[in-house]
Amino acid sequence: MASCKLMLICLVHISLFLGFCFADDPYVTYNFEVSYINASPLGVPQQVIAINGKFPGPTINVTTNNNVVVNVRNKLDEDLLMTWAGIQQRRSSWQDGVLGTNCPIPSKWNWTYQFQVKDQIGSFFYFPSTNFQRAAGGYGGFIINNRPIIPIPFATPDGDIVILIGDWYKKNHTDLRKTLNGGKDLGMPDGVLINGKGPYRYNDTLVPEGIDYETINVHPGKTYRIRVHNVGISTSLNFRIQNHNLLLAETEGSYTVQQNYTSLDIHVGQWNVTASGARPNPQGSFRYGSINVTQVYVLKNKPPETIDGKRRTTLNGISFVNPNTPIKLADAYHVKGVYKLDFPTEPLTGDPKMETSVINGTYRGFMEIILQNNDTKVQTFHLNGYAFFVVGMDYGEWSENSRGTYNKWDGIARSTTQNTNKTELPVPDNALYCGALSKMQKPQDISSAAAEKSKLLFTLLLMLIVMLSVLC
Ligand SMILES: *[C@@H]1O[C@H](CO)[C@@H](O)[C@H](O)[C@H]1NC(C)=O
Ligand SMILES: *[C@@H]1O[C@H](CO)[C@@H](O)[C@H](O)[C@H]1NC(C)=O
Ligand SMILES: *[C@@H]1O[C@H](CO)[C@@H](O)[C@H](O)[C@H]1NC(C)=O
Ligand SMILES: *[C@@H]1O[C@H](CO)[C@@H](O)[C@H](O)[C@H]1NC(C)=O
Ligand SMILES: *[C@@H]1O[C@H](CO)[C@@H](O)[C@H](O)[C@H]1NC(C)=O
Ligand SMILES: *[C@@H]1O[C@H](CO)[C@@H](O)[C@H](O)[C@H]1NC(C)=O
Ligand SMILES: *[C@@H]1O[C@H](CO)[C@@H](O)[C@H](O)[C@H]1NC(C)=O
Ligand SMILES: *[C@@H]1O[C@H](CO)[C@@H](O)[C@H](O)[C@H]1NC(C)=O
Ligand SMILES: *[C@@H]1O[C@H](CO)[C@@H](O)[C@H](O)[C@H]1NC(C)=O
Ligand SMILES: *[C@@H]1O[C@H](CO)[C@@H](O)[C@H](O)[C@H]1NC(C)=O
Repeated sequence: MASCKLMLICLVHISLFLGFCFADDPYVTYNFEVSYINASPLGVPQQVIAINGKFPGPTINVTTNNNVVVNVRNKLDEDLLMTWAGIQQRRSSWQDGVLGTNCPIPSKWNWTYQFQVKDQIGSFFYFPSTNFQRAAGGYGGFIINNRPIIPIPFATPDGDIVILIGDWYKKNHTDLRKTLNGGKDLGMPDGVLINGKGPYRYNDTLVPEGIDYETINVHPGKTYRIRVHNVGISTSLNFRIQNHNLLLAETEGSYTVQQNYTSLDIHVGQWNVTASGARPNPQGSFRYGSINVTQVYVLKNKPPETIDGKRRTTLNGISFVNPNTPIKLADAYHVKGVYKLDFPTEPLTGDPKMETSVINGTYRGFMEIILQNNDTKVQTFHLNGYAFFVVGMDYGEWSENSRGTYNKWDGIARSTTQNTNKTELPVPDNALYCGALSKMQKPQDISSAAAEKSKLLFTLLLMLIVMLSVLC
């Protein structure tokens, strides 16, 4: 009897342990093998970056609160980092795949990303964030569906279509990189790709023969949800479907006030605050219009300039230099001198410089950021891992008076969740170490022995449970 009781306790203990790892919100796992393949999207053979042999890569299609696991195997001949644009990995920027937080995945190595898509819905995409690799592909769609109990503010569409559009060069990304580092401009892109394919041959003179173009089958009278992403490197694009209206319903994870457009070239949208779905929690920035601003930054960008012989763009006169040691790792391990907390609140005058200069934000502060585009082209800004509200947009120079025009009620929001006062998860066990911390990095066993070992342990645990149950 006594021994049976003991075994029961043991069983409960093991079950709890397993439950902790696998229960809660569901896990969805993807394996990404990133490699070059030969393709000729604009009729010229070149190496493009494929995922599992496909260009563009597969669509990640998950549901709110899922735990997403992506095992990335880097089969390129250079470092790689995969980033998930606009996705707010819950309290874990260790997973966001940018050089500021992560060491790159060396060639031939694996790295497994794991994050929860907490309280979010929407259409996003992933792409390689370093080395100009995005110019060679490596991207794909990332959908977060609403949970079934959360209604969507429109009728269920008859189909779900991802469309990735972007500028494209016939030169490969390594040559493009050389051009910029040689102080030269990239010039006009050679074309625009739709889902990795070139233009339809609408004109025999302008479009050479033999180019593969994208075809999407639809049925008359049906309604489709189309998720359009600009995955290019610098060109703003206008999207339209001839003889059709497009009803704008969502942008970057927020439902918008619905409006018909003949083409998509949208500026400040509006957030439909009565629509259900994931949204910033009330403790956070939901009533953002009544939160007091604690810091103001005017960020001015200018057309690219030559700095130290390289072609670079600047913000407030500074071109950011990625440090060898990621900033977050440097912080976690108290490595000094990796960056300077001196990013200016206003544009600097004088010669542009290249520096690792970082904004000194205040914990729990509320920042107003003015993006002053002094270039002659449209610019796109992305705040990685942060929630922000778009409150206004206008031509010309910003001034204090511009605040009078801000939308302080239903500006487009990006949701964030910070339910606890612990803002970050600890450094993950599988973190890569580089730069000043490279001594901490163990070599990776590129064989599959490690994976086999943990599988064996799991099987043993399961067998133990089965045996104990039988015994009792
Ligand atoms: C890019 O093209 C150059 C030739 O212009 C070639 O030497 C280089 O290996 C190519 N790089 C990739 C990644 O295909
Ligand atoms: C906002 O969402 C609600 C709830 O789904 C919907 O009934 C309403 O029509 C939407 N309003 C606009 C202007 O899109
Ligand atoms: C994504 O998954 C949802 C739910 O399973 C499905 O309805 C939808 O068609 C999928 N979308 C794409 C683009 O695969
Ligand atoms: C094709 O493009 C060329 C060059 O722009 C133009 O001269 C020609 O008229 C176009 N052909 C047709 C059929 O539109
Ligand atoms: C958008 O256009 C469709 C058909 O053209 C129409 O039925 C619908 O009412 C329009 N919606 C809005 C919000 O204007
Ligand atoms: C903002 O500041 C004003 C004036 O200092 C203060 O009365 C108000 O309570 C503050 N609001 C919040 C949300 O802290
Ligand atoms: C960053 O800002 C805080 C106040 O929020 C200040 O105490 C600190 O000295 C600043 N750090 C640097 C390096 O300027
Ligand atoms: C850039 O800024 C300068 C100085 O404020 C101004 O004279 C010029 O018109 C601006 N150019 C653009 C394209 O915004
Ligand atoms: C965080 O919250 C816990 C309990 O909710 C509290 O004990 C602790 O003092 C808080 N820490 C900070 C830094 O606010
Ligand atoms: C790397 O990923 C492959 C599958 O793509 C797997 O077979 C292998 O075990 C992984 N290796 C490590 C060290 O995780």
